[in-house]
Amino acid sequence: MWKKWFSDKAANKQIDYNTIDLTRLPCHVAIIMDGNGRWAQKKGLPRTFGHRAGAETLREIVRTASEIGIKVLTAYAFSTENWRRPADEVSLLMSLLAEYLDNEINELDKNNVQIRFIGKIEELALTLRKKIEKAQAQTAHNTGLILNLAVNYGGRAELTRAVKIITEKVLNQELALEDINEAIIEENLYTANIPAPDLLIRPSGDFRISNFLLWQVAYAEFWFTETNWPDFKSENFLQAIRDYQQRERRFGGIKNTKKR
Ligand code: IPE
Ligand code: IPE
Ligand code: MG
Repeated sequence: MWKKWFSDKAANKQIDYNTIDLTRLPCHVAIIMDGNGRWAQKKGLPRTFGHRAGAETLREIVRTASEIGIKVLTAYAFSTENWRRPADEVSLLMSLLAEYLDNEINELDKNNVQIRFIGKIEELALTLRKKIEKAQAQTAHNTGLILNLAVNYGGRAELTRAVKIITEKVLNQELALEDINEAIIEENLYTANIPAPDLLIRPSGDFRISNFLLWQVAYAEFWFTETNWPDFKSENFLQAIRDYQQRERRFGGIKNTKKR
């Protein structure tokens, strides 16, 4: 189904994917979906319109990522700090998430997408949690794109959680102190068994990480654009990938050395 969608767009020359080397795609792309409020304000609309438009962008980018063969897409939807916003904005964001799941899950499933959630899901409302569990269970067997939605996610909270889990194991003598290493920490992050992001995209003109994937982005390539998330299109996504393919990643080594 998505094949058709993607080819139609390509036929309309809206998407030029010929200049992308499909054999050297970033395995994991992370996106901070930012700028919804500014997009709406610029149009004289309430912020909520920006969030609705932002959800549309997510639909489009998930399709494109899946179609070109990206393995993992992690999208930051709601941070542990976003609770500081007015209650009506928070509740709209939660409803939009529920709506996204209701409307998209069957299509995601049909297209072999596996949806996962990262963050303190246990703190969300029960009705939303149920939808999240259902969506994860329905798509758990899929082998295509892994779509990680970061909801009530914070990098510091994730690391704090990992420290607690590991400490408990040490206290219970299931793990020796000297055996704690980077691999053990990684195993206790929400992203266990998922390779670290190769490319991190932040739209809307801010150049900061805002508590996203603090551990995981250690060697990610960062790509910024002034475009606000609701105006971000497949072409912007593909441009980020093209630019990524021009970068030289050294992982602390020197040119042409491979990551260990
Ligand atoms: C991103 O857009 C959505 C969330 C953080 C949930 P914003 O709402 O942060 O939009 P700006 O940054 O205020 O423009
Ligand atoms: C980051 O955006 C969180 C999400 C996009 C979900 P924010 O809008 O919350 O980040 P700051 O406050 O500008 O750093
Ligand atoms: Mg913002």
